[in-house]
Amino acid sequence: MPATFSAANRSWWDHDAQNYHQSHSEYLSSFYWCPEMLHEKDAQLLGDVTGKHILEIGCGSAPCTQWLQDKAELAVGFDLSMGMLRHGSGNLVQADALAMPFADNSFDAVFSAFGAIPFVESSQAVLHEAARVLQPGGRFVMSINHPMRWIFADDPESFAVHYSYFDRSGYTEEEDGRLTYAEQHRTLGDRIRELLAAGFVLEDLLEPEWPADLKQNWGQWSPTRGRVFPGTAIFLAHLGS
Ligand SMILES: C[S@@+](CC[C@H](N)C(=O)[O-])C[C@H]1O[C@@H](n2cnc3c(N)ncnc32)[C@H](O)[C@@H]1O
Repeated sequence: MPATFSAANRSWWDHDAQNYHQSHSEYLSSFYWCPEMLHEKDAQLLGDVTGKHILEIGCGSAPCTQWLQDKAELAVGFDLSMGMLRHGSGNLVQADALAMPFADNSFDAVFSAFGAIPFVESSQAVLHEAARVLQPGGRFVMSINHPMRWIFADDPESFAVHYSYFDRSGYTEEEDGRLTYAEQHRTLGDRIRELLAAGFVLEDLLEPEWPADLKQNWGQWSPTRGRVFPGTAIFLAHLGS
């Protein structure tokens, strides 16, 4: 049930917020799309945001929304976790991506940088919500763990295969029978089909390469893996008219 995933993730991110911000201070200092440190000023995935209303899904402490603050007409971020939101500032709202508290057709662009989409039980439902709040023709960009990475254990130096690419049951942790963490897996084809089912037109799929001068590990992302295998997938789409 989505509500169960949401409850687990709210509590997990609330408790991890302090540690997360200490461990990833450079990444969280500006608008990076992924641990490969692709910056929006170089990638321009949202295009020209001047005069636009932009929404970020699962913004955490909102470094991306904050970077957009003086560039767009309106930049709003929302997140499930108050613990994460407390580390940020700006136009931030506490909300679940499965029920976005925004009017239909109210944004010119909607995006997510690893926010919410990998953590909900139904990413399809989130995409339908994103399509609902977007204007027809509006841009949608999401970065997520590259689906092909799912097969590996959470060890940045290993390529040993631990999970089936085709098993969509996801990864969960429990404590005393209570769900404490949940992450979802969809194949690359699933991701594309979910976008199409929500009414999006897919324009591109980026697989950022690991920069030769980036030596830092970031959880399961590392130079060892990044040199030969993608860690992030970024989907660029727009809402059909
Ligand atoms: C890896 S962080 C990404 C956020 C930000 N881009 C960053 O790098 O810190 C994932 C975020 O997704 C949020 N999240 C998880 N499930 C969510 C949901 N159902 N609705 C909204 N946010 C959610 C978490 O609270 C967390 O802040």
